[in-house]
Amino acid sequence: MEKSIKIFDNINELAVFFASLLIMKIHGTPEGQFFTIALSGGSTPRAVFQQIALKFRDQIDWKKVKVFWGDERCVSPESNESNYRMAKESLFDHVPIPAGQIFRIRGEENPVSESYRYAEVVAKHVYMHDNIAQFDMVMLGLGEDGHTASIFPGRLDLFKTDKLFEVAEHPVSHQKRISATGGLINHARTVVFLVTGESKSTMVSKILNEKADCEKLPASLVFPGNGELIWLLDDKAGSGVRSPN
Ligand code: 6PG
Repeated sequence: MEKSIKIFDNINELAVFFASLLIMKIHGTPEGQFFTIALSGGSTPRAVFQQIALKFRDQIDWKKVKVFWGDERCVSPESNESNYRMAKESLFDHVPIPAGQIFRIRGEENPVSESYRYAEVVAKHVYMHDNIAQFDMVMLGLGEDGHTASIFPGRLDLFKTDKLFEVAEHPVSHQKRISATGGLINHARTVVFLVTGESKSTMVSKILNEKADCEKLPASLVFPGNGELIWLLDDKAGSGVRSPN
């Protein structure tokens, strides 16, 4: 596995780098194939999506992109908590991606049945590698508690299951979530963490400096064995990182 840590002066510079990475990888997708990406929710991706829509709309061949989600809240797609709604409003309403290439998790459905349905959708549309769906890219955020996607502390079993998606629960709000499992995330070709803000600096430092007990944190178990792991941080979130490269 290749791991890289990049720290930027601000979220806009981080967004430009991420967009350039995305453009390069989509451009490199063989003719006739699709680039498959699982999106994250959260405030950082929202800002990044807005930048892509504003500055890079015409540099991406959207016909080559199939979009999925790494996690979704079990809410209506019209809810202001919906990761789908956030991505739709900040990106997809502004770019010419074919609607049939956007595969949202149906947060409004029964969580258990939707976790199975969505796993089948991913298995159908995402290329297989070693008989497991392999996303070209998975975007991830980082919670202050060390969660990523909707894998929260205490649910490290989601890194052991053979399933592609599982039902999870936010530890404070008890909101049901549907989340990609650790196995699916770690099977991706590229995993990109996008983390900004002072509030994340302690957790980022704990994980990237491999401090005591970091192995109990879901985000520290993200390890795409046959792929690349990229941490994109702004200077606030990355203030405690000893060895960016
Ligand atoms: C979600 C995300 C979650 C998010 C982190 C960071 O559905 O909320 O997938 O994992 O990425 O909580 O969120 P912020 O970027 O808003 O801090």
